[in-house]
Amino acid sequence: MGRPLLQMRGIAKRFAGVHALKGVDFELESGEVHGLLGENGAGKSTLMKMLAGIYPVDEGEIFIEGNKVSINSVKDAQAHGISIIHQEISLVPHLSVAENIFLGKEPVTKIGWIDWKKMMEDARTYLRQFGLELAPETPVKKLTVAQQQMIEIIKAVSFQAKMIVMDEPTSSLTEKEVEFLFQIIGRLKEQGVGIVYISHRMNELFTITDRITVLRDGNLIGTVKTKETTTDQLIAMMVGRELTQYYIKDASPASDGDIVLSVRNLSKKGVLNEAGFDLRKGEILGFAGLVGAGRSELMKCIFGLDAYDKGEIRIDGKPVIIRNPNDAIKHGIAYVTENRKEEGLFLIRSVQYNITIKILDQFIRWFRVNARYESQKTRQFIHELAIKTPNPDQEVRNLSGGNQQKVLISRWLATNPRILILDEPTRGVDVGAKAEIYAIMNRLVKEGVSIILISSELPEVINMSDRIAVMYKGGIRAVLNRDEFSQETIMHYATGG
Ligand SMILES: Nc1ncnc2c1ncn2[C@@H]1O[C@H](COP(=O)(O)OP(=O)(O)OP(=O)(O)O)[C@@H](O)[C@H]1O
Ligand SMILES: [Mg+2]
Repeated sequence: MGRPLLQMRGIAKRFAGVHALKGVDFELESGEVHGLLGENGAGKSTLMKMLAGIYPVDEGEIFIEGNKVSINSVKDAQAHGISIIHQEISLVPHLSVAENIFLGKEPVTKIGWIDWKKMMEDARTYLRQFGLELAPETPVKKLTVAQQQMIEIIKAVSFQAKMIVMDEPTSSLTEKEVEFLFQIIGRLKEQGVGIVYISHRMNELFTITDRITVLRDGNLIGTVKTKETTTDQLIAMMVGRELTQYYIKDASPASDGDIVLSVRNLSKKGVLNEAGFDLRKGEILGFAGLVGAGRSELMKCIFGLDAYDKGEIRIDGKPVIIRNPNDAIKHGIAYVTENRKEEGLFLIRSVQYNITIKILDQFIRWFRVNARYESQKTRQFIHELAIKTPNPDQEVRNLSGGNQQKVLISRWLATNPRILILDEPTRGVDVGAKAEIYAIMNRLVKEGVSIILISSELPEVINMSDRIAVMYKGGIRAVLNRDEFSQETIMHYATGG
């Protein structure tokens, strides 16, 4: 074999107060899929952002096909054939799907104008390849997070790159879309493209990668051949100890609890179709369905973020009208949105601000904010959810993806909700932190809180839920009890069966 496509040697990076990478080596062959694994905050995204020209390298060297290169900007990286799918979606909301895909590389006509016809046609071809039923003219802001994630993927793939970094490309995709992505990855491999694949989903790493490199606290722990390793070995490398229990849902006899939330015939043109369900006290009701089935849309209507055309919502048996999130919060509903960047976090505010924003009134005593109590509350959540931050004043945008997610969950837990809607709560969260989130869910249901769990990871829904509602084209196709749970049954209903 000749020189590797990419070699990174002794890479180090410091941010104020954080030593994010400490002399890491990384290698990628052409035609290889190389997994990158590590706990939240381990340094995965930082390493790849240096390759993609987003952060300058503090220390270390980068070689491409044996030649030393210096990458000082995104343009440099692109010139070296490096393309990246970011962990946080970075599309331009008001531009169309096609414009986003071809941004900066628009096809031109002979006289140098943008060839709109070709652009739309090419976009249509990509959309079809990825199984997306979308018009290329659709503005990106109208898409769900999962659809936006697919567009990010298409955008990176359409660059004709030599290497593609995929930073958690599937975190909000369901099995069907993941399959499309894997087919595309297979094709890219055949063309000799090297792929760096970052994911917390072990099964994906085992399906798709040739080698896996593990980072812990900015250190390189090792690189292993996927065929010669096991999940337990990888987890031990990641966390530095054995950790065998991934799912820890306790049996809950809540099936005859009172109905706290009941939804009937909720419809919204083109999105929801007579959707209805009951949520009982102290249960976890899972929601499964393909991308676009309407799960998040349904929750947005219930939480007052979106209007619906008709239907009824009852809380404790009484019809209620929820016009906006404040109404919902007054009824004890909390909603951890899947879209942490657009609808969730205040990125340039501190960890403390983000955690306590919904409960500030609790800290007001004699017309003053009780700062000590506020900071105590913040530290409690930082501790309970093991949020990795140098201090409570750190800006949230400087936290790793998984730790941002934990901040968002903390905010809503702080409101002591009776009904907690979790939309992809473990998106981008590492195995250890997942177990912590599951433990918190268990504790809450024991205290009588009712939880709605939307997750694109079927094993998660199956393991955590007491019942599962399966959505298809805006309606609820089936509600399954625990003894009926199986991937096959859920997929059957999710595809309209
Ligand atoms: N711009 C920044 N300023 C300050 N600290 C940063 C910045 N970017 C990253 N960090 C810190 O560097 C460390 C590594 O973060 P990084 O995003 O690389 O983690 P990760 O392995 O990608 O984690 P995750 O699985 O949660 O995405 C974290 O402690 C993070 O808070
Ligand atoms: Mg990351």
